[in-house]
Amino acid sequence: MATGLVRRAINRIQSSARLVITRAYASEAQSQSAEPKAESSSKLKTFQIYRWNPDNPQKPELRDYQIDLKECGPMVLDALIKIKNEIDPSLTFRRSCREGICGSCAMNINGCNGLACLTKIDSATSSASTITPLPHMFVIKDLVVDMTNFYNQYKSIEPWLKRKSPAPTPGKEILQSKSDRAKLDGMYECILCACCSTSCPSYWWNPETYLGPAALLHANRWIMDSRDEYTEERLEAVNHEFKLYRCHTILNCARACPKGLNPGKQIQNIKKLELLSS
Ligand code: SF4
Ligand code: SF4
Ligand code: FES
Repeated sequence: MATGLVRRAINRIQSSARLVITRAYASEAQSQSAEPKAESSSKLKTFQIYRWNPDNPQKPELRDYQIDLKECGPMVLDALIKIKNEIDPSLTFRRSCREGICGSCAMNINGCNGLACLTKIDSATSSASTITPLPHMFVIKDLVVDMTNFYNQYKSIEPWLKRKSPAPTPGKEILQSKSDRAKLDGMYECILCACCSTSCPSYWWNPETYLGPAALLHANRWIMDSRDEYTEERLEAVNHEFKLYRCHTILNCARACPKGLNPGKQIQNIKKLELLSS
């Protein structure tokens, strides 16, 4: 009887020892299998993207999308394309060149206007990146805004060469000196993305009447062109309380320009020429 009790006690001790050993092996195996997983683990980043569909009566919203940064290109446009291709094909945005030339991917990224193709993804996964349309513009759908007013303002400054006299050599280009050509630097590079105008507080409050930094930069580009013969008329056309003088030199425009241009400086030049010609 006593021998049976002792045997049962020994059996119990042996089986609990086996249990401990099995658990130890299991946790070791788990930690071993977790190690390589950690190396290839994903880097999940959340993007909060403005969504609004005119065909859907719902209010606009910020919708969350999570993507693995290890499987995505480095730019915000790469993330948008990945989301559209793999998660939500209804996401709508403009893009074309993917290299800062066409100006079509302008949007507001983490509070700043910029081109999605030239803006790097903030790789910190602890916070979401917010992407919304260009501010103070009418939204057509999601990140696509109505550029009609912006283009009409550009058109209003007559952005083409205007001459009163015929070209010096008929059928040939009109030449200009290197120094005259250099006067167009800082203006001809503009890609009309509208990042500057839509970051300008004066433009927000007077979008119909104030021409805004982009259109005024182009007005100055033609005022300064040695080949153009309508300088006076061009100055006269913008010499207006609202068209020109709503600029208060806050310089948000220069901070927003993805091409490194300074529209505020060009507006100052027009104001200076207006003073000289008055
Ligand atoms: S400098 Fe003029 S155009 Fe530029 S943001 Fe300020 S007010 Fe707008
Ligand atoms: S000045 Fe710069 S920000 Fe403004 S439209 Fe041109 S490229 Fe875009
Ligand atoms: S896609 Fe052309 S400027 Fe970004």
